[in-house]
Amino acid sequence: MNGDTDNHVNGNLSFPHEKIVILDAGAQYGKVIDRKVRELKVDSDILPLDTSAFTIKDKGYKAIIISGGPSSVNDPSAPQYDPDIFKCGLPVLGICYGFQMLNKEYNGKVERTSSREDGQFDIQVDTSCLLFKKLSAEQLVLLTHGDSITQVADGFKPVAHSGSFVAAIANEKSKLYGVQFHPEVDLTENGHQMLQNFLFDVAQCSGDYTMSNREEACVNYIKEAVGDHKVLMLLSGGVDSTVCAALLHKALSPEQVIAVHIDNGFMRKDESEQVETSLTKIGLKVRVIRAAHNFYNATTSMPMDKKDPNSRKRITSTLNRTIHPEEKRKIIGDTFMKVANEVVDELNLKPEDVYLGQGTLRPDLIESASCLASGNADAIKTHHNDTDLVRELRKQGRVVEPLKDFHKDEVRAIGKDLGLPEELVHRHPFPGPGLAIRVICAEEPYMCKDFAENSSMLKIICTFANSSKTLHSVLSKIKGCASPKEQEQLMRITSSATFSSQLLPIKTVGVQGDSRTYSYVAALSSDEAPEWQDLIILAKIIPRICHNINRVCWVFGRSVQHPVEDITPTFLTSGVLATLRQADYNATRTLAQAGCTANISQMPIVSIPIHFDRDPSLHLPSSQRSIVIRTFITNDFMTGIPATPGKHLPIKALDQMVENILQVPGISRVLYDLTAKPPGTTEWE
Ligand code: XMP
Repeated sequence: MNGDTDNHVNGNLSFPHEKIVILDAGAQYGKVIDRKVRELKVDSDILPLDTSAFTIKDKGYKAIIISGGPSSVNDPSAPQYDPDIFKCGLPVLGICYGFQMLNKEYNGKVERTSSREDGQFDIQVDTSCLLFKKLSAEQLVLLTHGDSITQVADGFKPVAHSGSFVAAIANEKSKLYGVQFHPEVDLTENGHQMLQNFLFDVAQCSGDYTMSNREEACVNYIKEAVGDHKVLMLLSGGVDSTVCAALLHKALSPEQVIAVHIDNGFMRKDESEQVETSLTKIGLKVRVIRAAHNFYNATTSMPMDKKDPNSRKRITSTLNRTIHPEEKRKIIGDTFMKVANEVVDELNLKPEDVYLGQGTLRPDLIESASCLASGNADAIKTHHNDTDLVRELRKQGRVVEPLKDFHKDEVRAIGKDLGLPEELVHRHPFPGPGLAIRVICAEEPYMCKDFAENSSMLKIICTFANSSKTLHSVLSKIKGCASPKEQEQLMRITSSATFSSQLLPIKTVGVQGDSRTYSYVAALSSDEAPEWQDLIILAKIIPRICHNINRVCWVFGRSVQHPVEDITPTFLTSGVLATLRQADYNATRTLAQAGCTANISQMPIVSIPIHFDRDPSLHLPSSQRSIVIRTFITNDFMTGIPATPGKHLPIKALDQMVENILQVPGISRVLYDLTAKPPGTTEWE
């Protein structure tokens, strides 16, 4: 219906199907609306809030959704919009800020009231309103607002209430609806049904945006963009670049696609081979460059003064002698560019002959457009694809990004459809420097002046029920930091279980407040079976009291008897990597066999230089390492939680995982990371 006008909206994609527009008022949930709408097989574009009604009509959108936003509609600097969007005849759903805009536009009142609502609330909805069709009168929704509607707009009726607050309004004749809550998030239990009601019953969409026409649109776009040029595709081994390569292969002739995968030696077991065979199976030849040796022995230059990038440079040790995480990352990034440049030279590719294929996804673009992306994530991505040729091609606008209109789940569906194997398509995201940042390297124990103090504080927290009977200065500090509810929880947990606790002399990365931290790890163990829910609570309380602890782990097996005060010297050597690679393989395979891969967003398996269970009187050297299972559940990778065994992950599967990891020789103990982000990041380095 609007295929001819879509060209403007999508740059150069043309979609011969219905679309709705999401006007962005600055919400953190904007891209979530987009994703939920697309899940319902309706295509959508996100445009600025001030897009004119004329443009929206002209482009043929079927309906308008206005997102939430951080401002107040009464603020003189509130974002501008065209009032005609409400009068152009298109159905409108205003969410949160959009709801207040709608109410104000029709002479209703929006005011800052003394009480705000933040969180999940039960509201009462009018089930005769089309928006709440098929739902019961009580609905659990997510509300986050300071301003409230104190007088409903002319011509509108309230169709939902949260206590005395108006939670939704409607003018059904004009197809104008507003909701104070967020139907797009999972915390609104029936949000999916409400969006479906709006799109299908109010806006009369037909849901014609299917997977096969998404794929067809990509293929057309690639053909149009590339013409008879060549495309260089650097494959990382991840889902996005692999699906992108498969699409290029489908759209172009074999000699047009140059697919290159650089094996840096930090890939997972069989990963490079898997990428190669899966793409060979669908007919695409991949050049695999085995460069592990180049990487292990690589060096780079770093500024002498960390704060001044222009200060004199020093040459780093080789990667297999480097213990600093950032130095490891920089060597790997720079070596990647060097190797990629050599490959490009060998292939004799000139900027005027080629295009560059990139697996950029829709959230990447949306995030950078609304400045929500972390500068960090961006820097990481460019670093890895920033060869001389890539830079030049980017400058000339010769970049082909067929997935730029899709979310991860859509990319996975397309990949499956293109014949890529299930396990590849459902693979968890994996960092560019790979296993290199999952080996905690160290030459000596990390024990600052505060080690003993933190260690004893940890002991007192873990035996709180007993310790609280005696008077102790540390105890009063704990009481000063923990809220009454936390003290109650500590009391309950530590009176029903006996824990052993050790502070480990290693540091790992975390986020506390707004900054990155490098702090200690607390390890808890017991002879009793773990109460996982309680352990997760303890893991929240401990870093709140001891700011120099940013991770809390459970140690499987019997209660740890001896303190650990030294480490096993560890570098990125092939033996250490081989052990971690096998442990990672055993763990991920167990997770897949239990059918749990999709329950968890990512599962780094980390090697730590800690050798437990050595009696100090025997003076045994530290020679083994331990393995940590770090599960992580997130939608945005900015914040997230560990999987709670028994809730997100069957305990049987976890026990099996531990058993399978311990089959790898030389492993001292297996640990489970109980830390949320914040205070602990996804990765340990
Ligand atoms: P953190 O550990 O900061 O990670 O919670 C957030 C996401 O970014 C990934 N990550 C990286 N990806 N190079 C990458 O390509 C890196 O150096 C890197 N460090 C973290 C991490 O796996 C997670 O998905």
